[in-house]
Amino acid sequence: MEKTVLPSKEAFATLLKQAIHRIKRLTKKLAPEIRQELGNAINRNATTIEHWGRSDNPTLPKQTELEGLAEAIYAYLLDQAWLDKFLLHGGHADPDPFSEYLADKHEEKPPAPRADKIVGRAEYIQAIRENLENPRGDLIITIDGLGGIGKTAIASKIHDLFLLDALFDKVIWISADRSDIPTFLKDLDPFDFDTILNSIGQQLGEQEIKKLDLTQKANLIRNLLKKQRCLIILDNLETADIPQYEIIELLRPFLNPSRALLTSRRRFTGDLYQIHLSGLEATQAIELMNHLGKEKSIPIILQGERHNLKQIHQVTGGSPLAIKLVVGLLKHVPLQTALKHLEKATPLDRVASEDEYLKFYRYIFIQAWRLLNDEDEKLLMGLAQFNPAEGIPFGLIANMPGLTPEQLTTGIQFLWRLSLLEVQEQTNLKDILYYLHPLTRYFVLSDMVKREDLL
Ligand SMILES: Nc1ncnc2c1ncn2[C@@H]1O[C@H](COP(=O)(O)OP(=O)(O)O)[C@@H](O)[C@H]1O
Ligand SMILES: [Mg+2]
Repeated sequence: MEKTVLPSKEAFATLLKQAIHRIKRLTKKLAPEIRQELGNAINRNATTIEHWGRSDNPTLPKQTELEGLAEAIYAYLLDQAWLDKFLLHGGHADPDPFSEYLADKHEEKPPAPRADKIVGRAEYIQAIRENLENPRGDLIITIDGLGGIGKTAIASKIHDLFLLDALFDKVIWISADRSDIPTFLKDLDPFDFDTILNSIGQQLGEQEIKKLDLTQKANLIRNLLKKQRCLIILDNLETADIPQYEIIELLRPFLNPSRALLTSRRRFTGDLYQIHLSGLEATQAIELMNHLGKEKSIPIILQGERHNLKQIHQVTGGSPLAIKLVVGLLKHVPLQTALKHLEKATPLDRVASEDEYLKFYRYIFIQAWRLLNDEDEKLLMGLAQFNPAEGIPFGLIANMPGLTPEQLTTGIQFLWRLSLLEVQEQTNLKDILYYLHPLTRYFVLSDMVKREDLL
Protein backbone atom coordinates (compact mmCIF):
# COMPACT_ATOMS: atom_id res chain seq x y z
CA MET A 1 0.00 0.00 0.00
CA GLU A 2 1.14 3.53 -0.78
CA LYS A 3 1.86 5.14 2.58
CA THR A 4 1.99 8.61 1.11
CA VAL A 5 -1.62 8.55 -0.05
CA LEU A 6 -3.83 10.61 2.24
CA PRO A 7 -7.21 9.38 3.41
CA SER A 8 -10.04 10.80 1.36
CA LYS A 9 -13.74 10.78 2.19
CA GLU A 10 -14.55 10.97 -1.46
CA ALA A 11 -12.43 7.93 -2.30
CA PHE A 12 -13.99 6.12 0.66
CA ALA A 13 -17.49 6.86 -0.64
CA THR A 14 -16.54 5.55 -4.08
CA LEU A 15 -15.06 2.35 -2.65
CA LEU A 16 -18.18 1.73 -0.60
CA LYS A 17 -20.48 2.28 -3.56
CA GLN A 18 -18.28 0.07 -5.72
CA ALA A 19 -18.45 -2.70 -3.13
CA ILE A 20 -22.24 -2.54 -2.89
CA HIS A 21 -22.46 -2.64 -6.64
CA ARG A 22 -20.27 -5.72 -6.83
CA ILE A 23 -22.13 -7.49 -4.05
CA LYS A 24 -25.33 -6.73 -5.90
CA ARG A 25 -24.02 -8.46 -8.98
CA LEU A 26 -22.64 -11.36 -7.04
CA THR A 27 -25.67 -12.03 -4.87
CA LYS A 28 -28.47 -10.68 -7.05
CA LYS A 29 -29.72 -8.84 -3.96
CA LEU A 30 -30.97 -5.29 -4.28
CA ALA A 31 -28.85 -2.37 -3.06
CA PRO A 32 -31.18 -1.35 -0.17
CA GLU A 33 -31.10 -4.92 1.12
CA ILE A 34 -27.31 -4.97 1.00
CA ARG A 35 -27.04 -1.62 2.79
CA GLN A 36 -29.41 -2.97 5.42
CA GLU A 37 -27.22 -6.05 5.90
CA LEU A 38 -24.05 -4.01 6.13
CA GLY A 39 -25.76 -1.70 8.60
CA ASN A 40 -26.84 -4.67 10.70
CA ALA A 41 -23.26 -5.88 10.84
CA ILE A 42 -22.21 -2.72 12.71
CA ASN A 43 -25.46 -1.78 14.46
CA ARG A 44 -26.22 1.13 12.18
CA ASN A 45 -29.06 1.52 9.73
CA ALA A 46 -29.19 1.42 5.95
CA THR A 47 -29.47 5.20 5.72
CA THR A 48 -26.12 5.66 7.45
CA ILE A 49 -24.51 3.30 4.95
CA GLU A 50 -26.13 5.25 2.14
CA HIS A 51 -24.76 8.53 3.57
CA TRP A 52 -21.24 7.16 3.72
CA GLY A 53 -21.57 6.27 0.08
CA ARG A 54 -22.09 9.92 -0.90
CA SER A 55 -18.97 11.81 -1.89
CA ASP A 56 -20.23 15.02 -0.20
CA ASN A 57 -20.86 13.25 3.08
CA PRO A 58 -18.90 14.92 5.89
CA THR A 59 -18.62 11.94 8.27
CA LEU A 60 -16.69 8.69 8.30
CA PRO A 61 -17.34 5.57 10.37
CA LYS A 62 -15.68 5.12 13.75
CA GLN A 63 -12.72 2.76 13.66
CA THR A 64 -14.67 -0.22 15.06
CA GLU A 65 -17.45 0.46 12.56
CA LEU A 66 -14.94 0.73 9.74
CA GLU A 67 -13.48 -2.63 10.70
CA GLY A 68 -16.89 -4.27 10.95
CA LEU A 69 -17.89 -2.88 7.59
CA ALA A 70 -14.61 -3.92 5.97
CA GLU A 71 -15.02 -7.42 7.32
CA ALA A 72 -18.62 -7.77 6.14
CA ILE A 73 -17.74 -6.60 2.64
CA TYR A 74 -14.47 -8.50 2.41
CA ALA A 75 -16.33 -11.75 3.05
CA TYR A 76 -17.98 -11.24 -0.34
CA LEU A 77 -15.26 -9.67 -2.40
CA LEU A 78 -12.06 -11.16 -0.93
CA ASP A 79 -10.12 -8.45 -2.66
CA GLN A 80 -7.02 -7.37 -0.81
CA ALA A 81 -6.41 -4.27 -2.90
CA TRP A 82 -9.92 -3.03 -2.25
CA LEU A 83 -9.59 -3.75 1.47
CA ASP A 84 -6.33 -1.84 1.85
CA LYS A 85 -7.74 1.21 0.11
CA PHE A 86 -10.97 1.02 2.05
CA LEU A 87 -9.15 1.02 5.41
CA LEU A 88 -6.82 3.80 4.35
CA HIS A 89 -9.49 6.13 3.02
CA GLY A 90 -11.80 5.28 5.88
CA GLY A 91 -9.14 6.79 8.13
CA HIS A 92 -8.00 3.63 9.93
CA ALA A 93 -5.12 4.42 12.31
CA ASP A 94 -3.17 1.24 11.61
CA PRO A 95 -4.60 -0.56 8.57
CA ASP A 96 -1.90 -3.15 7.85
CA PRO A 97 -2.36 -5.50 10.84
CA PHE A 98 -6.12 -5.46 10.43
CA SER A 99 -5.85 -6.15 6.72
CA GLU A 100 -3.53 -9.08 7.40
CA TYR A 101 -5.84 -10.38 10.09
CA LEU A 102 -8.78 -10.41 7.68
CA ALA A 103 -6.75 -12.03 4.91
CA ASP A 104 -5.63 -14.81 7.28
CA LYS A 105 -9.14 -15.36 8.44
CA HIS A 106 -10.32 -15.91 4.88
CA GLU A 107 -7.30 -17.84 3.69
CA GLU A 108 -9.34 -20.94 2.99
CA LYS A 109 -11.61 -19.17 0.55
CA PRO A 110 -10.93 -18.65 -3.15
CA PRO A 111 -10.30 -15.05 -4.28
CA ALA A 112 -13.78 -14.67 -5.67
CA PRO A 113 -16.78 -16.94 -6.02
CA ARG A 114 -15.95 -18.14 -9.51
CA ALA A 115 -18.00 -21.24 -9.15
CA ASP A 116 -21.14 -20.46 -7.16
CA LYS A 117 -21.47 -21.96 -3.76
CA ILE A 118 -20.28 -25.56 -3.95
CA VAL A 119 -22.26 -28.03 -1.91
CA GLY A 120 -20.61 -31.25 -0.74
CA ARG A 121 -17.59 -32.42 -2.72
CA ALA A 122 -15.32 -31.36 0.15
CA GLU A 123 -13.71 -34.79 0.38
CA TYR A 124 -12.79 -34.72 -3.33
CA ILE A 125 -11.42 -31.22 -3.13
CA GLN A 126 -9.41 -32.15 -0.05
CA ALA A 127 -8.09 -35.34 -1.68
CA ILE A 128 -6.99 -33.46 -4.80
CA ARG A 129 -5.43 -30.76 -2.69
CA GLU A 130 -3.44 -33.23 -0.60
CA ASN A 131 -2.32 -35.09 -3.68
CA LEU A 132 -1.07 -31.89 -5.29
CA GLU A 133 0.67 -30.85 -2.10
CA ASN A 134 2.40 -34.19 -1.79
CA PRO A 135 5.78 -34.14 -3.60
CA ARG A 136 5.28 -37.83 -4.40
CA GLY A 137 1.66 -37.34 -5.45
CA ASP A 138 0.31 -38.31 -8.86
CA LEU A 139 1.37 -36.32 -11.90
CA ILE A 140 -2.08 -36.52 -13.41
CA ILE A 141 -5.41 -36.32 -11.63
CA THR A 142 -8.62 -36.98 -13.55
CA ILE A 143 -12.28 -36.30 -12.90
CA ASP A 144 -14.89 -37.98 -15.05
CA GLY A 145 -18.68 -38.18 -14.92
CA LEU A 146 -21.85 -37.15 -16.75
CA GLY A 147 -22.27 -33.61 -18.05
CA GLY A 148 -23.67 -31.38 -15.32
CA ILE A 149 -22.47 -33.60 -12.50
CA GLY A 150 -20.00 -30.95 -11.24
CA LYS A 151 -16.56 -31.67 -12.77
CA THR A 152 -15.85 -28.11 -13.82
CA ALA A 153 -17.09 -26.82 -10.47
CA ILE A 154 -14.48 -28.92 -8.64
CA ALA A 155 -11.75 -28.04 -11.13
CA SER A 156 -12.44 -24.32 -10.81
CA LYS A 157 -12.42 -24.61 -7.02
CA ILE A 158 -8.97 -26.21 -7.27
CA HIS A 159 -7.94 -23.50 -9.72
CA ASP A 160 -8.93 -20.80 -7.25
CA LEU A 161 -7.36 -22.55 -4.26
CA PHE A 162 -3.98 -22.84 -5.89
CA LEU A 163 -4.06 -19.44 -7.52
CA LEU A 164 -3.50 -18.05 -4.04
CA ASP A 165 -1.07 -20.70 -2.99
CA ALA A 166 2.68 -20.45 -3.39
CA LEU A 167 2.82 -24.16 -4.20
CA PHE A 168 2.46 -23.54 -7.94
CA ASP A 169 4.07 -20.70 -9.83
CA LYS A 170 1.16 -20.57 -12.20
CA VAL A 171 -2.22 -22.19 -12.71
CA ILE A 172 -3.15 -22.70 -16.35
CA TRP A 173 -6.75 -23.24 -17.42
CA ILE A 174 -7.54 -24.70 -20.81
CA SER A 175 -10.98 -25.74 -21.95
CA ALA A 176 -11.41 -28.07 -24.88
CA ASP A 177 -15.07 -27.17 -25.24
CA ARG A 178 -15.58 -26.21 -28.81
CA SER A 179 -19.07 -27.44 -29.37
CA ASP A 180 -19.74 -24.10 -31.04
CA ILE A 181 -17.37 -24.56 -33.90
CA PRO A 182 -18.81 -25.82 -37.19
CA THR A 183 -17.34 -29.14 -38.28
CA PHE A 184 -15.56 -27.77 -41.33
CA LEU A 185 -13.71 -25.26 -39.14
CA LYS A 186 -12.88 -27.95 -36.61
CA ASP A 187 -11.01 -29.79 -39.34
CA LEU A 188 -9.01 -26.67 -40.11
CA ASP A 189 -8.34 -25.80 -36.50
CA PRO A 190 -8.75 -28.90 -34.36
CA PHE A 191 -8.25 -29.06 -30.61
CA ASP A 192 -5.22 -31.31 -30.38
CA PHE A 193 -1.91 -31.41 -28.55
CA ASP A 194 -0.62 -28.51 -30.62
CA THR A 195 -3.53 -26.39 -29.35
CA ILE A 196 -2.64 -27.36 -25.79
CA LEU A 197 1.02 -26.37 -26.26
CA ASN A 198 -0.03 -23.04 -27.78
CA SER A 199 -2.36 -22.34 -24.93
CA ILE A 200 0.19 -23.22 -22.24
CA GLY A 201 2.77 -21.05 -23.98
CA GLN A 202 0.43 -18.09 -24.26
CA GLN A 203 -0.61 -18.33 -20.64
CA LEU A 204 3.08 -18.36 -19.68
CA GLY A 205 3.65 -15.17 -21.66
CA GLU A 206 4.99 -16.64 -24.92
CA GLN A 207 2.65 -14.80 -27.26
CA GLU A 208 4.59 -15.80 -30.38
CA ILE A 209 4.49 -19.52 -29.74
CA LYS A 210 2.11 -20.22 -32.63
CA LYS A 211 4.85 -19.30 -35.09
CA LEU A 212 7.15 -22.10 -33.96
CA ASP A 213 7.12 -25.62 -35.38
CA LEU A 214 5.99 -28.50 -33.22
CA THR A 215 9.48 -29.55 -32.08
CA GLN A 216 10.42 -26.01 -31.13
CA LYS A 217 7.14 -25.61 -29.29
CA ALA A 218 7.66 -28.81 -27.37
CA ASN A 219 11.18 -27.75 -26.35
CA LEU A 220 10.04 -24.33 -25.27
CA ILE A 221 7.17 -25.66 -23.17
CA ARG A 222 9.33 -28.44 -21.68
CA ASN A 223 11.80 -25.80 -20.50
CA LEU A 224 9.14 -23.45 -19.20
CA LEU A 225 7.45 -26.22 -17.25
CA LYS A 226 10.76 -27.34 -15.72
CA LYS A 227 11.60 -23.83 -14.57
CA GLN A 228 8.16 -23.03 -13.24
CA ARG A 229 5.99 -25.44 -11.36
CA CYS A 230 2.61 -25.16 -13.05
CA LEU A 231 -0.75 -26.71 -12.49
CA ILE A 232 -2.33 -27.36 -15.87
CA ILE A 233 -6.09 -27.83 -15.83
CA LEU A 234 -7.58 -29.31 -18.98
CA ASP A 235 -11.36 -29.13 -18.83
CA ASN A 236 -13.91 -30.89 -21.08
CA LEU A 237 -11.53 -33.30 -22.77
CA GLU A 238 -14.48 -35.22 -24.22
CA THR A 239 -14.74 -32.56 -26.91
CA ALA A 240 -11.06 -32.65 -27.89
CA ASP A 241 -10.30 -33.87 -31.40
CA ILE A 242 -7.79 -36.49 -30.32
CA PRO A 243 -8.54 -39.30 -27.86
CA GLN A 244 -7.99 -38.36 -24.24
CA TYR A 245 -5.57 -41.25 -23.60
CA GLU A 246 -3.38 -39.79 -26.34
CA ILE A 247 -3.41 -36.38 -24.69
CA ILE A 248 -2.37 -38.03 -21.44
CA GLU A 249 0.54 -39.87 -23.02
CA LEU A 250 1.72 -36.75 -24.84
CA LEU A 251 1.38 -34.59 -21.75
CA ARG A 252 3.12 -36.88 -19.28
CA PRO A 253 6.74 -36.15 -20.34
CA PHE A 254 6.15 -32.44 -19.74
CA LEU A 255 5.11 -32.93 -16.12
CA ASN A 256 7.11 -33.21 -12.93
CA PRO A 257 7.49 -30.81 -11.27
CA SER A 258 4.38 -29.48 -13.03
CA ARG A 259 1.12 -31.35 -12.56
CA ALA A 260 -2.14 -31.76 -14.47
CA LEU A 261 -5.83 -31.99 -13.62
CA LEU A 262 -8.10 -33.32 -16.38
CA THR A 263 -11.87 -33.52 -16.70
CA SER A 264 -14.01 -35.37 -19.18
CA ARG A 265 -17.42 -36.90 -19.65
CA ARG A 266 -15.63 -40.04 -20.86
CA ARG A 267 -14.11 -42.37 -18.33
CA PHE A 268 -10.35 -42.19 -17.84
CA THR A 269 -8.29 -45.34 -17.45
CA GLY A 270 -4.66 -46.05 -16.69
CA ASP A 271 -2.06 -44.97 -14.20
CA LEU A 272 -3.82 -41.85 -12.94
CA TYR A 273 -5.38 -40.56 -9.77
CA GLN A 274 -8.99 -41.04 -10.83
CA ILE A 275 -12.16 -39.53 -9.49
CA HIS A 276 -15.40 -40.88 -10.88
CA LEU A 277 -18.00 -38.34 -9.97
CA SER A 278 -21.61 -39.23 -9.31
CA GLY A 279 -24.62 -37.27 -8.08
CA LEU A 280 -24.90 -35.48 -4.75
CA GLU A 281 -26.28 -37.41 -1.80
CA ALA A 282 -29.77 -36.54 -0.60
CA THR A 283 -28.70 -34.19 2.22
CA GLN A 284 -26.28 -32.34 -0.02
CA ALA A 285 -28.81 -32.13 -2.84
CA ILE A 286 -31.35 -30.69 -0.41
CA GLU A 287 -28.79 -28.17 0.81
CA LEU A 288 -28.27 -27.10 -2.81
CA MET A 289 -32.04 -26.84 -3.36
CA ASN A 290 -32.44 -24.67 -0.27
CA HIS A 291 -29.62 -22.44 -1.41
CA LEU A 292 -31.16 -22.09 -4.87
CA GLY A 293 -34.62 -21.54 -3.40
CA LYS A 294 -33.34 -18.54 -1.46
CA GLU A 295 -31.13 -17.21 -4.22
CA LYS A 296 -33.87 -17.37 -6.83
CA SER A 297 -36.89 -16.93 -4.55
CA ILE A 298 -38.68 -20.17 -5.38
CA PRO A 299 -41.65 -20.47 -2.97
CA ILE A 300 -42.14 -24.21 -3.23
CA ILE A 301 -38.52 -24.83 -2.28
CA LEU A 302 -38.64 -22.30 0.53
CA GLN A 303 -41.62 -24.13 2.00
CA GLY A 304 -39.15 -26.96 2.26
CA GLU A 305 -41.52 -29.91 2.17
CA ARG A 306 -39.04 -32.69 2.60
CA HIS A 307 -40.83 -35.21 0.42
CA ASN A 308 -40.82 -32.72 -2.47
CA LEU A 309 -37.11 -32.11 -2.12
CA LYS A 310 -36.44 -35.83 -1.81
CA GLN A 311 -38.42 -36.46 -4.95
CA ILE A 312 -36.33 -33.92 -6.86
CA HIS A 313 -33.20 -35.62 -5.61
CA GLN A 314 -34.45 -38.98 -6.69
CA VAL A 315 -35.48 -37.95 -10.18
CA THR A 316 -32.34 -35.92 -10.88
CA GLY A 317 -30.01 -38.54 -9.43
CA GLY A 318 -28.39 -35.67 -7.49
CA SER A 319 -26.92 -34.06 -10.60
CA PRO A 320 -26.32 -30.38 -9.69
CA LEU A 321 -27.18 -29.13 -13.17
CA ALA A 322 -30.39 -31.13 -13.31
CA ILE A 323 -31.31 -29.91 -9.82
CA LYS A 324 -30.66 -26.31 -10.81
CA LEU A 325 -32.77 -26.59 -13.94
CA VAL A 326 -35.66 -28.32 -12.20
CA VAL A 327 -35.65 -25.83 -9.33
CA GLY A 328 -35.61 -22.99 -11.88
CA LEU A 329 -38.75 -24.39 -13.49
CA LEU A 330 -40.59 -24.45 -10.19
CA LYS A 331 -41.08 -20.72 -10.18
CA HIS A 332 -43.46 -21.19 -13.11
CA VAL A 333 -44.49 -24.84 -13.24
CA PRO A 334 -45.98 -27.00 -10.46
CA LEU A 335 -43.57 -29.60 -9.14
CA GLN A 336 -45.60 -32.58 -10.28
CA THR A 337 -45.82 -31.21 -13.82
CA ALA A 338 -42.09 -30.58 -13.91
CA LEU A 339 -41.35 -34.07 -12.70
CA LYS A 340 -44.10 -35.91 -14.56
CA HIS A 341 -42.28 -35.65 -17.87
CA LEU A 342 -38.91 -36.33 -16.35
CA GLU A 343 -40.11 -39.51 -14.79
CA LYS A 344 -40.60 -40.90 -18.27
CA ALA A 345 -36.85 -40.73 -18.73
CA THR A 346 -34.34 -43.10 -17.18
CA PRO A 347 -33.16 -41.59 -13.87
CA LEU A 348 -29.78 -39.93 -14.29
CA ASP A 349 -28.01 -42.24 -11.88
CA ARG A 350 -29.08 -45.20 -13.98
CA VAL A 351 -28.53 -44.03 -17.53
CA ALA A 352 -26.36 -46.38 -19.49
CA SER A 353 -26.00 -44.56 -22.78
CA GLU A 354 -25.40 -41.08 -24.13
CA ASP A 355 -28.80 -41.31 -25.74
CA GLU A 356 -30.68 -41.92 -22.49
CA TYR A 357 -28.76 -39.17 -20.85
CA LEU A 358 -29.55 -36.58 -23.51
CA LYS A 359 -33.17 -37.66 -23.39
CA PHE A 360 -33.28 -36.93 -19.69
CA TYR A 361 -32.01 -33.38 -20.12
CA ARG A 362 -34.22 -32.84 -23.13
CA TYR A 363 -37.28 -33.27 -20.92
CA ILE A 364 -36.08 -30.45 -18.70
CA PHE A 365 -34.96 -28.16 -21.51
CA ILE A 366 -38.23 -28.49 -23.41
CA GLN A 367 -40.12 -27.27 -20.37
CA ALA A 368 -37.76 -24.37 -19.82
CA TRP A 369 -37.87 -23.43 -23.47
CA ARG A 370 -41.65 -23.16 -23.39
CA LEU A 371 -41.43 -20.48 -20.73
CA LEU A 372 -39.33 -18.15 -22.88
CA ASN A 373 -40.80 -15.31 -24.88
CA ASP A 374 -39.38 -14.32 -28.28
CA GLU A 375 -36.86 -11.91 -26.79
CA ASP A 376 -35.59 -14.42 -24.21
CA GLU A 377 -35.21 -16.95 -26.97
CA LYS A 378 -33.32 -14.48 -29.10
CA LEU A 379 -31.00 -13.67 -26.22
CA LEU A 380 -30.35 -17.32 -25.46
CA MET A 381 -29.67 -18.11 -29.11
CA GLY A 382 -27.33 -15.13 -29.25
CA LEU A 383 -25.47 -16.24 -26.14
CA ALA A 384 -25.09 -19.73 -27.55
CA GLN A 385 -23.03 -18.35 -30.41
CA PHE A 386 -20.11 -17.66 -28.09
CA ASN A 387 -17.62 -20.04 -26.55
CA PRO A 388 -19.03 -20.85 -23.13
CA ALA A 389 -15.75 -21.86 -21.54
CA GLU A 390 -14.29 -18.40 -21.69
CA GLY A 391 -17.37 -16.63 -20.43
CA ILE A 392 -19.23 -13.97 -22.34
CA PRO A 393 -18.61 -10.35 -21.30
CA PHE A 394 -21.63 -8.08 -21.07
CA GLY A 395 -20.11 -5.84 -23.73
CA LEU A 396 -20.53 -8.58 -26.32
CA ILE A 397 -24.25 -9.00 -25.80
CA ALA A 398 -25.12 -5.39 -24.94
CA ASN A 399 -25.80 -4.55 -28.56
CA MET A 400 -27.59 -7.67 -29.61
CA PRO A 401 -29.81 -6.71 -32.54
CA GLY A 402 -33.54 -6.69 -31.94
CA LEU A 403 -33.32 -6.36 -28.16
CA THR A 404 -33.93 -3.16 -26.21
CA PRO A 405 -31.78 -2.64 -23.08
CA GLU A 406 -34.83 -3.49 -20.95
CA GLN A 407 -35.50 -6.70 -22.83
CA LEU A 408 -31.85 -7.56 -22.41
CA THR A 409 -31.77 -7.09 -18.65
CA THR A 410 -35.11 -8.77 -17.99
CA GLY A 411 -34.03 -11.57 -20.32
CA ILE A 412 -30.79 -12.07 -18.38
CA GLN A 413 -32.74 -12.14 -15.11
CA PHE A 414 -35.22 -14.63 -16.46
CA LEU A 415 -32.65 -16.98 -17.99
CA TRP A 416 -30.63 -16.81 -14.80
CA ARG A 417 -33.65 -17.73 -12.70
CA LEU A 418 -34.21 -20.74 -14.91
CA SER A 419 -30.48 -21.60 -14.56
CA LEU A 420 -30.11 -21.54 -18.32
CA LEU A 421 -27.50 -18.85 -17.75
CA GLU A 422 -24.83 -18.40 -15.10
CA VAL A 423 -23.72 -14.93 -14.08
CA GLN A 424 -20.25 -14.47 -12.68
CA GLU A 425 -18.01 -11.67 -11.63
CA GLN A 426 -14.42 -12.12 -12.72
CA THR A 427 -11.58 -12.39 -10.26
CA ASN A 428 -9.72 -9.19 -11.11
CA LEU A 429 -11.63 -7.28 -13.71
CA LYS A 430 -14.77 -5.48 -12.79
CA ASP A 431 -16.61 -6.97 -15.69
CA ILE A 432 -19.36 -9.54 -15.42
CA LEU A 433 -19.17 -12.75 -17.38
CA TYR A 434 -22.00 -14.97 -18.54
CA TYR A 435 -21.72 -18.71 -18.98
CA LEU A 436 -23.86 -21.32 -20.60
CA HIS A 437 -23.29 -24.88 -19.56
CA PRO A 438 -22.11 -26.92 -22.59
CA LEU A 439 -25.30 -28.98 -22.34
CA THR A 440 -27.51 -25.90 -22.38
CA ARG A 441 -25.64 -24.74 -25.40
CA TYR A 442 -25.96 -28.07 -27.07
CA PHE A 443 -29.73 -27.96 -26.68
CA VAL A 444 -30.03 -24.35 -27.76
CA LEU A 445 -28.01 -25.00 -30.89
CA SER A 446 -29.77 -28.22 -31.77
CA ASP A 447 -33.42 -27.91 -32.70
CA MET A 448 -34.47 -30.64 -30.31
CA VAL A 449 -36.03 -28.38 -27.73
CA LYS A 450 -38.29 -26.82 -30.29
CA ARG A 451 -39.88 -30.10 -31.27
CA GLU A 452 -42.93 -30.40 -29.10
CA ASP A 453 -43.62 -33.95 -30.25
CA LEU A 454 -40.75 -35.13 -28.13
CA LEU A 455 -42.67 -34.61 -24.92
N1 LIG B 1 -21.27 -29.36 -5.71
C1 LIG B 1 -22.00 -28.39 -6.28
N2 LIG B 1 -22.71 -27.52 -5.54
C2 LIG B 1 -23.43 -26.55 -6.13
N3 LIG B 1 -23.50 -26.34 -7.45
C3 LIG B 1 -22.81 -27.17 -8.24
C4 LIG B 1 -22.02 -28.23 -7.70
N4 LIG B 1 -21.44 -28.89 -8.73
C5 LIG B 1 -21.86 -28.27 -9.85
N5 LIG B 1 -22.67 -27.25 -9.57
C6 LIG B 1 -23.34 -26.38 -10.55
O1 LIG B 1 -24.02 -27.21 -11.46
C7 LIG B 1 -23.80 -26.81 -12.81
C8 LIG B 1 -23.08 -27.91 -13.58
O2 LIG B 1 -21.81 -28.14 -13.00
P1 LIG B 1 -20.47 -28.29 -13.87
O3 LIG B 1 -19.34 -28.28 -12.93
O4 LIG B 1 -20.47 -27.29 -14.96
O5 LIG B 1 -20.70 -29.75 -14.47
P2 LIG B 1 -19.77 -30.56 -15.48
O6 LIG B 1 -18.48 -29.85 -15.62
O7 LIG B 1 -19.62 -31.91 -14.84
O8 LIG B 1 -20.57 -30.63 -16.74
C9 LIG B 1 -22.99 -25.52 -12.72
O9 LIG B 1 -23.90 -24.44 -12.74
C10 LIG B 1 -22.31 -25.61 -11.38
O10 LIG B 1 -22.04 -24.34 -10.84
MG1 LIG C 1 -17.67 -29.07 -17.41
